[in-house]
Amino acid sequence: MADQSPVEPTKGDVPSSPQSQGNNSTQQRDYKGILYSLDEPRFSGLSKNAVKRLLRDQLWEQTRTKRLQSKREKHKKRMVEKRKCYEEGTGPAPIKRTKTSDMTFGDRRVIMDCSFSDLMTKKELDSMQAQLVRCYSANRSAKEAIHLTVSGFDDALKGVFDKKTSSYKNWRNVTWDPQPYEEQFDKSKLVYLSADSDCTAKELEEDKIYIIGGIVDKNRHKGLCQDKAVKAGIATAQLPIGDYIKLASRKVLTVNQVYEIMLKWVEHRDWKKAFMEVIPLRKLKDSEIMDGDQVDKVEQKDDDLDDDEADEVARQQEESLAADEQQEASQVAQETSL
Ligand SMILES: C[S@@+](CC[C@H](N)C(=O)[O-])C[C@H]1O[C@@H](n2cnc3c(N)ncnc32)[C@H](O)[C@@H]1O
Repeated sequence: MADQSPVEPTKGDVPSSPQSQGNNSTQQRDYKGILYSLDEPRFSGLSKNAVKRLLRDQLWEQTRTKRLQSKREKHKKRMVEKRKCYEEGTGPAPIKRTKTSDMTFGDRRVIMDCSFSDLMTKKELDSMQAQLVRCYSANRSAKEAIHLTVSGFDDALKGVFDKKTSSYKNWRNVTWDPQPYEEQFDKSKLVYLSADSDCTAKELEEDKIYIIGGIVDKNRHKGLCQDKAVKAGIATAQLPIGDYIKLASRKVLTVNQVYEIMLKWVEHRDWKKAFMEVIPLRKLKDSEIMDGDQVDKVEQKDDDLDDDEADEVARQQEESLAADEQQEASQVAQETSL
């Protein structure tokens, strides 16, 4: 429907009084296909510029569906081009997404402990949000998705989501919980993942609930999550990276890398495969991959992402997630209107 809201004349606009419009006011005019005449009540007292603005808004509203459709078509075309590049060996594999309705869930659950907003800068909080988008994106294309509880979901993080990815409220199998997890779960079942733990996870036990520290801090707060878990009497474990890869750099991974490794482990039941598929080449560069007694040195070029680039990947995923969701929503709308 056309926007009927009054438009305030801006500075410099001269109201077009019926007198000044003279006989011209009843004349039919054409604004980019919209026929109108200045004596319509909705234009009363408005300057010619204000009328134009009103018509421009009306046109914008009327072309919304067409715009969305063309956006969707462009997205489709881009995906076809990406697939072609992949098949010709000139581009990376396109990210395969499952429709949310086709996602497969097991009984596993991960808690993202998001109680650290006050320890992050604005940029880090934005990165944290972007990493959660990556977790969900990975969950959608995983062989077996893991239920994610975002605990301690406070106003700071919620504010970033509301602004950047408002569709988060519809994410499947994600619980947004403002309360801390301590009050909701049986402590004996919890295992807090931490690179600082003395214990190493040999497998991901089905009856355990694993916690990832939801913080981006460039490891400024060393031992933060380990200390928190110990104080609360919760078991901790580090991922067994050292058993498979001698990393040239630190073993502290980002939130989404840890989550993606867990998804890959659930798929392959093979830590080495999970690490190799998720840990970026930058971290693997100059590292040694252990294969039984054999040790292979990795000498790849450093072609991986720094933190800002990682955010950019998340932004792209966010856009394509939004496009996917829009497409799914319009499909559902079409199906229900049949
Ligand atoms: C960026 S790290 C947070 C670093 C933070 N300074 C700390 O105290 O843990 C984000 C989370 O990923 C998980 N994590 C990162 N590297 C890990 C590793 N090697 N083993 C197990 N968990 C890890 C932990 O849950 C950690 O809290």
